[in-house]
Amino acid sequence: METFGCQMNVADTDRMELLLFQSGYLRTPHVEDADLVLVNTCSIRDKAEQKVFSLFGGLKPLKQSNPDLILGVAGCLAQQEQTALINRIPFLDFVVGPDAVESIQHIVQRVNQGEGPVIWTEFDSHKNYSIPEQPLIKNPGPSAFVNIIKGCDKFCSFCVVPYTRGREKSREAEEIYAEIRQLVDKGAKEIILLGQNVNAYGKRGLQQPLAFHELLYGVSEIEGVERLRFTTSHPMDFTPELIQAYCDIDILMNHLHLPVQCGNNRILELMRRSHTIEWYMDLIEQLKSKVPDIALSTDIIVGFPGETREEFEETLNLMEQVKFSSSYMFAYSPRPNTPALEMADDIPYEEKQDRLQQIIQLQNRLTKENGQAFIGKEVEVLIESTTSRKGMSFKGRNPHYWSVMFKGGEDRLKPGDVARVRVEETSGHVLRGSWAANRRRSARGEL
Ligand code: 5AD
Ligand code: SF4
Repeated sequence: METFGCQMNVADTDRMELLLFQSGYLRTPHVEDADLVLVNTCSIRDKAEQKVFSLFGGLKPLKQSNPDLILGVAGCLAQQEQTALINRIPFLDFVVGPDAVESIQHIVQRVNQGEGPVIWTEFDSHKNYSIPEQPLIKNPGPSAFVNIIKGCDKFCSFCVVPYTRGREKSREAEEIYAEIRQLVDKGAKEIILLGQNVNAYGKRGLQQPLAFHELLYGVSEIEGVERLRFTTSHPMDFTPELIQAYCDIDILMNHLHLPVQCGNNRILELMRRSHTIEWYMDLIEQLKSKVPDIALSTDIIVGFPGETREEFEETLNLMEQVKFSSSYMFAYSPRPNTPALEMADDIPYEEKQDRLQQIIQLQNRLTKENGQAFIGKEVEVLIESTTSRKGMSFKGRNPHYWSVMFKGGEDRLKPGDVARVRVEETSGHVLRGSWAANRRRSARGEL
């Protein structure tokens, strides 16, 4: 199994692994050993698509030497291309969209019975969204993602997601709580609520209506959840109640990923983002007035059709003003089916790359400045794994969602513990330091 793209895809692949395990399949790291190769794809930008095609180019000899090998494509590229994918990769056995995840056993069974290629790109017709509980086949790590909503109704003009993942569908809270209880039982300490647009949660379709902030309060009451996060949210669905939740819920970590996309109102309108820069900045101000040390990250696109140099420079200004701790930065890539495709993709490749390099450089400086504020301070780190890189012992994250690597505590600490770490240096979006041993036990008694 191979996954491209976002965290939703990673979660979908994990789910398909679990379901296929029930059918007798066991995941192997060696493709030569596989009876079934399943690639969960992304189509958010052209580059993501190209990676998938080159991977399948490499798989062709395997299929030729073993015709019984089942090759399947799942995810957004499958949904977008449907039968066209079979024309391009004729040796495929199935092509299934993101809504086929729960049916993966049935699809593989049909292929095994000689049917093929199987194409499944219907969106499910339910109003809400269910992931029935299954016994876990492996323990979660200390930090676990939990799907709460799928799809997107925002239709930003550049984005394929509304076409590849369909309409927003929320998952019943009781099912979410049950999954979290199961994960916590198996050792998870941090829960990250996941969706393309999490703060649209509960807007419609739920049998038991519940707003997103109410879901956060509900999750925070589950015993054993020590940290809570969510991603991704949209500025237009950010409510005052959600800001208040940051004050009330002490396990809600002080980091927010809030995509802005660009710093100019004309471009935002062309992007159909439905908010202005003023709206975004006002939201950030409100949030900072309640949670002064909140770390902010964002997504930015440069070179959208018609973006002038001056308009691009407003993106630089905005970044400088907000001082994001990190950003995911992209050059605009025209996508099939999207409204922006109607607009001329008129910013030359070199110019897009130049703008991209400029924002990357600016973000590197902002990240460095943000990181320096931690130097000499102690931060609480949820340990996710051991490491032997650069003389360090453990790695994890602090509440502001910085990666932290530290040395010391080898005989006392293990993944899942929360350690106090004195930060000594930064490198990119990583803090490095040493275990602050012999400290008093914290309120929750982790040390
Ligand atoms: N071109 C470039 N970046 C895009 N994104 C989405 N669609 C495109 C596109 N056509 C970026 C946005 C979004 C992130 C997940 O990917 O910034 O927030
Ligand atoms: Fe795409 Fe916009 Fe929906 Fe995000 S909010 S998934 S960018 S359409």
